[in-house]
Parts: sequence; structure tokens; C-alpha cells
Amino acid sequence: MLVPREELKELMKRKFMAAGMHDDDADAQAEVLTWSSERGLHSHGEVRVEYYTERISKGGMTVDPQWTWTQTGPCTGILDGDNGCGYPMAIRGMEKAIELAKESGIGVVGVANVSHTGAIGYYTEMAAKAGMIGLSCTQSDPMVIPYGGAEPFYGTNPIALAAPTADERIVSFDMATTVQAWGKILDAKSAGRSIPEGWAVDEDGLPVTDPKLVNALVAIAGPKGYGLMMMVDILSGVLLGVPAGKNVSSMYHDLSEGRRLGHLNVAINPEFFCGDAAFRAHMSEVLDELGAVKPGVGFDKVYYPGERAQMRIKATAEAGGIEVVDDIYDYLVSDDLYRRSWDHKNRFAE
Ligand code: NAI
Repeated sequence: MLVPREELKELMKRKFMAAGMHDDDADAQAEVLTWSSERGLHSHGEVRVEYYTERISKGGMTVDPQWTWTQTGPCTGILDGDNGCGYPMAIRGMEKAIELAKESGIGVVGVANVSHTGAIGYYTEMAAKAGMIGLSCTQSDPMVIPYGGAEPFYGTNPIALAAPTADERIVSFDMATTVQAWGKILDAKSAGRSIPEGWAVDEDGLPVTDPKLVNALVAIAGPKGYGLMMMVDILSGVLLGVPAGKNVSSMYHDLSEGRRLGHLNVAINPEFFCGDAAFRAHMSEVLDELGAVKPGVGFDKVYYPGERAQMRIKATAEAGGIEVVDDIYDYLVSDDLYRRSWDHKNRFAE
């Protein structure tokens, strides 16, 4: 059913507050989830609410985190999130990075010991809206083989970059470093469909098309994607002193334990390079040039990263709301904190 944007956000916020979160943190988390849903990224929207409320109920996400901010150098700092909700912490981290970049040209902020930070393009777009280039990366739980391996080691470790232009356009590139998201394998499994070769492997590291045999996902572009995944893990894990690689906590293993994830936010101020106005004007020029590229057969045009998301947001607004599956809407309007349990689930065995 169609749910108006603000109604959906309020319903999610109400659940988080019922679970014990403070008003401002609940609001931040609901805003990022709504931001995802309105651009069609439902895998990082309202479907996650039950998981978070269960994790909070079981003690695996602090609702009153005693987070601390330590500026470690002229352009660097660490925000320790005390295992609080990842969304408001990553927002605070990007706000700090922007502040540092205003002063010194660049701000590099580690957000350590937090829970899931969701669709990370939200944070890079914050920087772009402040006139900066934003860069973010985040650890996620091990479910991807390292190139040549047969068992999961890295997470789907996403990377994102956003940049402003001289007009209202924002380039917003935001991707997982896997060929496909885990949710797509689950969709195929529940629909009884096979998956294309190249998405996932079985227990021997061999490609599988039967979703029931999947034991791990595969990085994009073979060893290159594996290298990108490692880069994310170094920058948002090892660098911040949190568990890394195969020791990153699992989303579903034990919901009573804090996840201790790491997330890195960087803001780069163009004023300290070619100058703000020149950067914006040049970005607009590049996007115009991209848009003028002759489309290949089967394509209507060349889109810049983030352009299609903007089209989805417009379509969502014109349709009068966000399409939410009935089950989830029923849950959101109910008084239940959560209905399904995710605790101690083995995602590959489910
Ligand atoms: P995707 O495959 O939907 O999009 C990847 C990028 O490609 C986007 O920047 C998009 O704008 C661009 N793109 C797509 N089609 C395009 C086209 N026709 N022309 C030009 N650009 C195009 O993204 P993916 O990899 O499925 O990731 C989805 C979300 O999941 C992201 O927001 C990511 O941050 C999030 N995520 C979060 C994780 C976490 O643990 N926090 C883990 C993994 C992913």
C-alpha cells in the first residue's frame, strides 16, 4: 500500500521510541530509512525496523549511548558510539568531518563501536549539501569469499562518494562491493527461482545457481572487488581499532551483543583545492557532457550516479507515498515491538 513519506517516517520513529530510543536518535534512524525507501532502496528501509527493535530489546544496541568525540589531530577525530544505533552516530561523524573540512580543507572521522549504519549514501550526501565532497565506507558482516577462497571472510563493505554541482544536482555514488546483495538471493530462494551464475558460491567455492546451496557471496570484478572490500575493511575497521575481516560481528548471530562496527566519513572542501565555485561549475559541466553522450543500444541515456534515485523520489512524491508491503504496514501500525525473530539466525541456512 502507498504510505505518505512523513507518515512512514513517523511510524518507524514511534517503534524506535517504543523500544526505548531517544526522540532525536529515533528521528535520525527513521529519516535515513525513509530516505532509502523513497528512492526504491527498500532493502535498507522499513523492512529493517523489526530487526532493530528486537536487537534493542535484547540489549545488543545501546539506547542511551555515552558516545564520545576525540579530536585526534587538526583534521582527524574518532567518535566512539558506545554500541549505540549506527545512524545517528554516522550523522554526527559526518557533521564533525564537515566542521573539520571547513577549517582545514579535509575532515577524516572514524565512527567506531556502532551498530549498522544502513545506506551510507545518506552521509556522503550530507557533505555534498554542505558544498563538500563526501566519502564514506563501512564494515558489514562476513558473507563474501576473498578471491580464491571457499569461505566467507569480508562483508559486503559498501563505499560511497557524493559531490555538489553549480545547480541542484548531486552526484551520489553508493554501492556494495558484492555482485549482488544478500536480499536478492533470499528473494530468489523464497520465489523458488534460480540465481544467475556469478552471484554466489557453494561450500567448495564453486559458482551456484540454486539459492539453497549458497554459502557465500562474491565480490564485484574478481580480485579487484576483493581488493576494494579489503580497502573498506582497512579504512573503517583496522584503522579504527575495531574487529576486522572475518572477526566482524554477524548481524544475526547474537542480538544481545553490541556489534562494534566501524564506519569512516571523510569531507573534502573544494575551496582548499581548485576553489568552491570552480569545482561546482566544472562538476556541472562534466554532468552535462555525460548526459550528452550518445546512448548505447538498449539505453535511453547515460545517467550520472544518483540521477535515477532522484527520479524515483520524484515519482514517489507524485504517487503520493512510498509503496510498503501490507505485512510490514500491519506491523508498523501495531503495538508489537517485533513479530519475527532474527536472533541466532544463520542467514545461509534459513
Ligand atoms: P546499486 O547497485 O543499486 O547502485 C550502485 C550505484 O550505481 C549507485 O550509486 C547508483 O546510483 C548507480 N547506478 C545504478 N544504476 C545506474 C545507471 N543506470 N546509471 C548510472 N548509475 C547507476 O547499489 P547496491 O550495491 O545494491 O547497494 C545498495 C545500498 O546498500 C547502498 O546504499 C549501500 O550503502 C547499502 N549497503 C549497506 C551496507 C551496510 O552494511 N551498511 C552493506 C551493503 C550495502
